Amino acid sequence: MIKGLKTALGAVTVGLLAGASLAHAQGADTELVKKGEYVARLGDCVACHTALHGQVYAGGLTIETPVGTIYSTNITPDPTYGIGSYTLEDFDKAIRHGVRKDGSSLYPAMPYPSFARMSDEDIKALYAYFMHGVKPVAQPNKPVGISWPLSMRWPLSIWRSTFAPTPKPFTPAPGTDAEIARGEYLVTGPGHCGACHTPRGLGMQEKALDASGGADFLAGGAPIDNWIAPSLRNDPVVGIGRWSEEDLYLFLKSGRTDHSAVFGGMADVVGWSTQYFTDADLHAMAKYLKALPPVPPSRGDYTYDASTAQALDSGNTSAPGAATYVEQCAICHRNDGGGVGRMFPPLAGNSVVVTDNPTSVAHIIVAGGVLPPTNWAPSAVAMPGYKSVLSDQQIADVVNFIRTSWGNKAPANVTASDIQKLRVNHAPISTTSWGFGGDATATWGVFHPQPYGSGWTFAPQTHTGEDAAQ
Ligand code: HEC
Ligand code: HEC
Ligand code: HEC
Repeated sequence: MIKGLKTALGAVTVGLLAGASLAHAQGADTELVKKGEYVARLGDCVACHTALHGQVYAGGLTIETPVGTIYSTNITPDPTYGIGSYTLEDFDKAIRHGVRKDGSSLYPAMPYPSFARMSDEDIKALYAYFMHGVKPVAQPNKPVGISWPLSMRWPLSIWRSTFAPTPKPFTPAPGTDAEIARGEYLVTGPGHCGACHTPRGLGMQEKALDASGGADFLAGGAPIDNWIAPSLRNDPVVGIGRWSEEDLYLFLKSGRTDHSAVFGGMADVVGWSTQYFTDADLHAMAKYLKALPPVPPSRGDYTYDASTAQALDSGNTSAPGAATYVEQCAICHRNDGGGVGRMFPPLAGNSVVVTDNPTSVAHIIVAGGVLPPTNWAPSAVAMPGYKSVLSDQQIADVVNFIRTSWGNKAPANVTASDIQKLRVNHAPISTTSWGFGGDATATWGVFHPQPYGSGWTFAPQTHTGEDAAQ
């Protein structure tokens, strides 16, 4: 089955790339259009502006918010339904200022607070690409599914003036190494990494848009679609402190390293965006992340503890969750929690396994995942979902088991009821340590649309109108 999936995914990926050719570029500045195509990869525009099974850039992707549903819009150059009539200025207003052509404010699901840092040259290239490199699609936008009075867009302009920075193209601090400066531009600007990786304040604004905001910057976000983006700071346990620059490069290029495999929302990022970055840009981002100011380690350092493997090897499965682990998980993740290099990620010492909030870990066990095929590592490897194989109690126990074995030190506090809510209501597991006071699901304010979240997990066929592989 995995092999069939792999072949299908491979074929579709090739189709998608061919479809994105510059067929419409005649007469336009082809170099500029080409550069714009690359900038569109940097900004991952396709991930949000393409619906499930929809046409590329024609919009219509459903984004659920606590007050109702919004949809991404058609950004193909169709003059009636898309942005074909937008001037460069109109386009810039939407991308960097969050203002539509009609003057109303965009929902911050469009990450314009980050895009505000993009350079004039990149905006010009992006515009050339959307006007001349993208196929027009005559598909009307869907009306926002939020009822009056919450549907009024004027509160968004208050949000915008309060929380979105006045667009000012990025300028590095004087004396910054040129490669690190490029990395900072990519991470904080078009790459909008903080949209998921930086915690949000009460207004749902990112608490820091760059390192000048202190330890909050890229300190890890709240659940989005039940996936948690962990800290990208150099904490050795919950962050990337034990990752080398090369690990980061490999992860962003291929989705897999010896320590970890990409999943959830990050699989979309690698699958649609970072795998296409140049090596120079990937190294620049890795270098920048490793050069961020140190943060105090929140849970000491990680040391491997061999006693779990010894117990499992000798047949001792008395610890809650251990028997389930041996029966269901050890074939891939192994008794020693070490996984199988670049195929099945290790669980021992893996930062995503020990994040404060266990939602992601529980979610991948409930729902499973597919390690996206990338040009660099073309095999699609799958993790089965256990929602109809294991009971809520068994899943809770195995989550607690992997969070406390092999030297992993996370609270073992997931209950069967947490798993039931996750499985049935798709509710994230609440903890009190999310940085905005208690239960995040309860503190969504009425005017605070979920700022990011596209509700689907990477599969190339979802973006090409091809359902065959599903
Ligand atoms: C995280 C999801 C996301 C990403 C990434 C994203 N967008 Fe958007 N974008 C949206 C949503 C949602 C809207 C509609 C918001 C609304 O209705 O208020 C939008 C609106 C827009 C609009 C305004 C269209 C109009 O109706 O005036 C433009 C133009 C646009 N995006 C272009 C881009 C480009 C170019 C990129 C890549 C550089 C990009 N977007 C990346 C989610 C995203
Ligand atoms: C759509 C939300 C989203 C965006 C945008 C995003 N990430 Fe992630 N990221 C995640 C999630 C969820 C995870 C956890 C799953 C995993 O490890 O693959 C993650 C994990 C990671 C990891 C692995 C961390 C670890 O400890 O295992 C790295 C490195 C990373 N992201 C880098 C980036 C960079 C660089 C960017 C910007 C180019 C970025 N991310 C943008 C959601 C996101
Ligand atoms: C058939 C092999 C296989 C089995 C069996 C399996 N997994 Fe996985 N697991 C994977 C693969 C492949 C990934 C990467 C998935 C992705 O990228 O979406 C993964 C990812 C994970 C992750 C996220 C870690 C990371 O860095 O990506 C956790 C946690 C996890 N598995 C736990 C479990 C548990 C607990 C069980 C048993 C209930 C289990 N797995 C059974 C193959 C497997």
